[in-house]
Amino acid sequence: MKDPQTPQAAAHESAASGFNRMRSKLSFARLVEMGAKMGLENPLFLCHDRAAKATAQIGGKEYLNFSTYDYLDLNTHPEITEAVTEAARLFGSSAGASRLVGGERPPHRQLEQAIARLYGVEDCIAYVSGHATNVSTLGFMFGPRDAIFYDGLAHNSLMQGARLSGAERYSYTHNDCDALEALLKAHRDKHKRAVIVTEGLFSMDGNIPDLPRLIRLKKQYDCMLLVDEAHSFGVLGATGRGAHEYFGIDAHEVDMWMSTLSKSMCGCGGFIAGSGELVEFLRYGSPGFVFSVGMPPIVAAACHKALELMLREPQRVHKLQRISQFFLEYAKDKGLDTGAAQGYAIVPIMVGDSMAAGFLANLLFKRGLYVMPITFPAVKEGEARLRFFLSAAHSEDQIRQALDAVQEDLPRAREIVETYKREHADDPVDEQ
Ligand SMILES: Cc1ncc(COP(=O)(O)O)c(C=O)c1O
Repeated sequence: MKDPQTPQAAAHESAASGFNRMRSKLSFARLVEMGAKMGLENPLFLCHDRAAKATAQIGGKEYLNFSTYDYLDLNTHPEITEAVTEAARLFGSSAGASRLVGGERPPHRQLEQAIARLYGVEDCIAYVSGHATNVSTLGFMFGPRDAIFYDGLAHNSLMQGARLSGAERYSYTHNDCDALEALLKAHRDKHKRAVIVTEGLFSMDGNIPDLPRLIRLKKQYDCMLLVDEAHSFGVLGATGRGAHEYFGIDAHEVDMWMSTLSKSMCGCGGFIAGSGELVEFLRYGSPGFVFSVGMPPIVAAACHKALELMLREPQRVHKLQRISQFFLEYAKDKGLDTGAAQGYAIVPIMVGDSMAAGFLANLLFKRGLYVMPITFPAVKEGEARLRFFLSAAHSEDQIRQALDAVQEDLPRAREIVETYKREHADDPVDEQ
């Protein structure tokens, strides 16, 4: 017979089992658990000994690093460290409160105005998080009578924002403007306002959308257009100004230029740049800005200095572009599958099976190469990959070394998984 329980113990148990049920939904955690059973070491949450550059140091050991977003090799730049130190001396480590009520510090507006100038648009608003920028902006700007047409590979933050808004959501096949146009034809008229949402450079595939066509479609179907430049800002265009510079487009053609500040700007946070009216609307209403603390002034100062360095030293952007193209060509020469990548900062090496991608990353890590596997649920099952982030700090030698190792270890990783599957074909399926 079961022991009688006090009401408190019963409540505790039911809360705990509720939590366990929630936990079992975490696909990443399940994958890690499954991998552990197969002898796979968890590649997530590793603690670094110092700033990660072309190499990283983890547990005292040096690794060739392809897992950091610092595309322009700016993190630890002495001028940024100096700007941060000065801002910390003057303003401390926190904005103290929401900027709406707690007030601003000079680095906030300096950064926003520099970004607006870079695009040649009227204004810009910087949020404390890149993810929150998308969630809060889309969630606040659109409502149940509106429609959000988004690329099938749009980042989680864009989808969360779309969901929060309550607008009708239409996902179109990745980078397929014909598919988008068919959806617009069928559904645009049913809604009051509409927005098309895309990325400037896709974070999983490393490819670029047809922005001129998206602009034509947005005009033809009376939509707004939001371009998330998390991975194209600092990467595309002759001076790193992003997708509009790459395509030679007037930035006013796009309603909302969004980017994170955590990649090329090696800080943290996100922004929306566009018309003065739009920015004013967000500054007084967007919950992720109004009800959240302002970006720490030290971070704003760091990002502002990074922006200045990017414009002053365009050779960083050119080096990144050259080394990314080299990576793509060398990978193709080796017979590796780079998917849809166009050779700008992000290049995946397609593996297919999630577990094989995990084992490949493990094998590479053991020989001193740090690159992350991207598996389900971040990508569809069967489309797992290793995602390489390139940086202006990488050399051709380092890339050859990395890709030679991938070519050698890829069949071994697949073999480990195949053997395991053969040996465990009769095991009962673990239904969670
Ligand atoms: C396309 C895209 N948008 C938004 C974000 C969120 O930015 P952050 O990590 O700076 O919060 C990311 C993060 O990787 C991203 O890839």
